[in-house]
Amino acid sequence: MTNEHAHQRVDAVASATVSRFYVTTPIYYVNAAPHIGHAYSTIVADALARWHRLLGEDVKFLTGTDEHGLKIAQAAEAKGLTPQAFADSIAPTFKTAWQRLNIANDDFIRTTEPRHRASVTTLLQACYDAGDIELDVYRGKYCVACEEYYTDDELDDGYCRIHKTPVDEYEEENYFFRLSRFEQRLLDWYDAHPSAIVPEFRGNEVRGFIKGGLRDFSISRTSIDWGIPIPWDTRHVTYVWFDALTNYLSAVGYGADDAQYRKWWPVDYHVIGKDIIRFHCVYWPAMLLSAGVEPPRGWAVGGWLLFGGEKISKTAGNIVNPLDLIDDIGVDGFRHYVLAETPYGADGDFTVEGLTARYNADLANNLGNLVSRVATVVGKKCGGVGPAPAADSALSQVAADAYAATAAAWATVQPSRALEATWSLIRATNAYLEQHEPWKAEPGPTLDRVLGDALEVLRIVAILASPSIPDAAQAVWERIGLTGRVEDQRLPSAATWGGYASGAAVIKGEPLFPRR
Ligand code: MSP
Repeated sequence: MTNEHAHQRVDAVASATVSRFYVTTPIYYVNAAPHIGHAYSTIVADALARWHRLLGEDVKFLTGTDEHGLKIAQAAEAKGLTPQAFADSIAPTFKTAWQRLNIANDDFIRTTEPRHRASVTTLLQACYDAGDIELDVYRGKYCVACEEYYTDDELDDGYCRIHKTPVDEYEEENYFFRLSRFEQRLLDWYDAHPSAIVPEFRGNEVRGFIKGGLRDFSISRTSIDWGIPIPWDTRHVTYVWFDALTNYLSAVGYGADDAQYRKWWPVDYHVIGKDIIRFHCVYWPAMLLSAGVEPPRGWAVGGWLLFGGEKISKTAGNIVNPLDLIDDIGVDGFRHYVLAETPYGADGDFTVEGLTARYNADLANNLGNLVSRVATVVGKKCGGVGPAPAADSALSQVAADAYAATAAAWATVQPSRALEATWSLIRATNAYLEQHEPWKAEPGPTLDRVLGDALEVLRIVAILASPSIPDAAQAVWERIGLTGRVEDQRLPSAATWGGYASGAAVIKGEPLFPRR
């Protein structure tokens, strides 16, 4: 079999078994305009989705807005609007922000859509029929910002630990989800799926919560009417978290479109922040187990983006609008910063100095320099025509190792490690150029070989970096004379050494990443 035939066969086998990848962001409350805390989880999920598209998987990437509940009703009232009109005014600001940040979501769900109401109704009914939802009276302290009841020992002197605001006293008749019945089932499930939560230490934390004992939680309210009615008792509306979590099912046709639902569920990754881990990793799988729905395959739990040491949030009043930053540093500069700067899972301090330093180091100096050096020398000494790489180049193994490390890191949702691995290839290639000094060499085969190797690295790097910096990756691709879209490349075959064919027109152009 020739090499080409072998490739075709591999591709044919692969296409017969195309796997699908379903990834979600949290749905954001519409009480505030999008800020960089929201942008953070959205960019992580987007980059992950882009990586899986490169792997040739059939990807669904969902984001959206959370529009019911007391918090939204109060925010609407403060503006003198109905909750629906208020939500209608804010939801588009999320859509616009994501477009500007080059977020390639496949769907955007709003919890006020009919498709969502239908799925919530189905899920509630399934849990009720299973006997896991019962009526009871609730007295307790409630944080509206969290939309959560707390006991005294979960508060600091009556103040919410997350929002630092006083909580309110509530007493109402609520339906309760009997979470306490699920302790053992959840522990058994996590035992059988030990790597479902990344990073690993978050998985241990979740086991800890569960072992510490689970309290039933209220899933309905009578005190407000901004929500989805409980199907068997319409005096009540559904508690906002039960409603919100169900968005992940509504978007894949749960209770409405069986073929869709069977294709996409269970979700591969819920990308979430650590603040909502209990809802996602304890409440949600219990609700699903109750309803006879398979729990998620994975959760990727991020830390907080801090500003001046505090979580960026409307309540803290330290909001940074991502759209203000991209005017200066560019969309890719911002995306790259949030992905590369902080190991996913840890908190990261957002600073403008950090953003600029990361841009200058990784983009202007490392990648930008490599592109401009290569294009300049090819222009001067090869008439602007790119030579082919050498099959036995010393960089070939470096590229293979970088690909393997990049892929392994994305597989466990570690964008900073993935980018570090990709950038190690860029750095090695800059060092290779410094060693061979093609700018001093005479035209000829030795020079061609060095430049061909560097062009081949740029081709591979454009692909590997495209989840983080999609536009810049495409620009690099075009600079080195390649046609088509980087995002249409398929891994792992596209990362194999030797793909750059000689004869393409290499363009010098303006610097891709001018220093800031
Ligand atoms: N609506 C709920 C989520 C429902 S999901 C079924 C909610 N919304 S939120 O708008 O308050 O925040 C959602 C998520 O945005 C957080 O969990 C977190 O992932 C992200 N972030 C918001 N502020 C953040 C930071 N300052 N840093 C990092 N991410 C944070 O909770």
